[in-house]
Amino acid sequence: CPLDQLNTLGFPATAEAFVSVTSEQMLTDAVHYADKQGLKLHILGGGSNILVTPNVSGLVVKMDIKGRTVNMSGDSALLTLGAGEEWHKTVAWSVAQGFSGIESMALIPGSVGAAPVQNIGAYGTELKDNFVHLRAYDIEQKRWVDFDKKACQFAYRDSLFKQQPGRYIITEVTLSLSKVAAPRLKYAALQGFFDQKGINAPSLSQIFDAVCEVRRSKLPDPATLGNAGSFFKNPVITNSQCDALISHFPDLVRYPDQPGYTKLAAGWLIDQCHWKGKRQGNVGVYDKQALVLVHYGDGQLDELLDLSEQIQTSVQSKFGVSLEREPQIFPLI
Ligand code: EPU
Repeated sequence: CPLDQLNTLGFPATAEAFVSVTSEQMLTDAVHYADKQGLKLHILGGGSNILVTPNVSGLVVKMDIKGRTVNMSGDSALLTLGAGEEWHKTVAWSVAQGFSGIESMALIPGSVGAAPVQNIGAYGTELKDNFVHLRAYDIEQKRWVDFDKKACQFAYRDSLFKQQPGRYIITEVTLSLSKVAAPRLKYAALQGFFDQKGINAPSLSQIFDAVCEVRRSKLPDPATLGNAGSFFKNPVITNSQCDALISHFPDLVRYPDQPGYTKLAAGWLIDQCHWKGKRQGNVGVYDKQALVLVHYGDGQLDELLDLSEQIQTSVQSKFGVSLEREPQIFPLI
């Protein structure tokens, strides 16, 4: 089965076996089938954070479990979502209902079930900020498990599910949104966007629209240009390493992180190494955001990996900072 349309980078790939599952029963049936046939199981969500290898042996299970239920509890709306729901549609729907909390995570590609894996985030909000619990199937123990927020071990673009890849299959996620809280701006660039327009207390839908506009201006739409969002994590270094860097690069773009640490803008580091807008064969660095690598079509994953290693090498030699790749190789070995 071809996977070309199921990864947003648009690399050609074929799976030995493939099934789209639309219920938990179908999922456990697929797990048992793979066991019986001796096939390795690989779970696929929206395909927006993966680097798919050309020949995928085993059974690829596409998570298409839908569903959205809302339970009102005081001033909160508890939203329970099937893993196969599209993330952006969920955000748009919650904004239309007047529920605040995830509006600044508009337009993040991918599915609800993949969101906790890398603790998706944008413009000052991360999934963990509104997360309550999730339900997952444990392939090792062959049982269903509920995870509360603590058990998920969320960190910047990280979670238990990323640390123990392939073990849990997330089928349902519950978020808590607010019916009353005024939306808050937590990101300077977004604040600047409203300041320029003379808006000082933007509404929920104004924030949603602004995020969509800002993202559209900086990030390529996977439907027209293959990409997997940020290709590297923003690196976190110690404050003393940061001070040393600032003495050489006073314009270093940085944000305070946990006490004693500073997060650097990987896009700035790559930009300073003059990669922005560079094309190498069928792949390249996006011309409006250096953190995004793109596939123009007819290319292979190896070309992109080669480009990404060149970028890592030049950032390392100019700044002494190592960049960690964000999207994961699929399937994980
Ligand atoms: N910058 C440059 N040149 C560039 C890109 C960025 O100089 O080509 C500098 C600018 O100073 C800019 C700063 O870097 O102000 C930060 O850039 P931006 O606001 O675009 O955010 P980012 O740190 O590059 C992160 C997330 C994005 C998320 C945005 C907004 C990561 C790895 N990436 O990018 O998430 O949308 O913040 O919150 O944390 C993703 O994970 O796929 C993703 C797109």
